[in-house]
Amino acid sequence: MTLVLRLAVEADFGALAEVQFRAVDACLRPLYDGEAIDRWLEGLTATKFEHVTAMGEEIVVATVDGSVVGFVSFHSEMAVLGMWYVDPLFIGRGVGSALLRHAESRMVELGCPEATTEASLYARPHFESLGWVSVEEYEKPAFGGHFRVTKMSKVF
Ligand SMILES: CC(C)(COP(=O)(O)OP(=O)(O)OC[C@H]1O[C@@H](n2cnc3c(N)ncnc32)[C@H](O)[C@@H]1OP(=O)(O)O)[C@@H](O)C(=O)NCCC(=O)NCCS
Repeated sequence: MTLVLRLAVEADFGALAEVQFRAVDACLRPLYDGEAIDRWLEGLTATKFEHVTAMGEEIVVATVDGSVVGFVSFHSEMAVLGMWYVDPLFIGRGVGSALLRHAESRMVELGCPEATTEASLYARPHFESLGWVSVEEYEKPAFGGHFRVTKMSKVF
């Protein structure tokens, strides 16, 4: 498996929406309210990624043989790690940790020595294994439901 990490371009946005759709459906649906998940998935289009980048987030994609298999996003000025998703077919093979480590180095390069994020119940142990610390767990209202998330932080 030849993994390549690179900055996302507009032509990737459709693939990013598909990866996020599959990851949410496979990993998060079993843990959260199914109707809220349905509403989340309905709104998942390439346009969302245009908005995210217009707001100043940087997106790094992971490709295998030229196909997008995962991505991470972060806003270095706001010191926030945003999205972190890997296609279910590639989960557990190190793609996620490669992406997260890359995002952390890039944030440091951009002058951001620490960050916070909101982790899903699924992602929290993955963040912890990569050195992120849990700050607070709470219910986040979204998509007409409530999502249990953990605010996490890391000094890089
Ligand atoms: C979270 C996610 C991005 C991780 O990607 P991945 O490719 O599966 O992750 P990796 O295989 O690189 O594993 C990441 C780390 O977690 C560890 N890990 C894997 N499964 C674990 C588990 N069940 N419990 C604890 N740690 C685990 C791995 O050992 C690895 O650490 P290492 O690099 O030090 O060995 C991916 O699983 C995903 O898309 N999940 C669903 C969507 C989601 O919840 N996204 C985050 C929203 S906040």
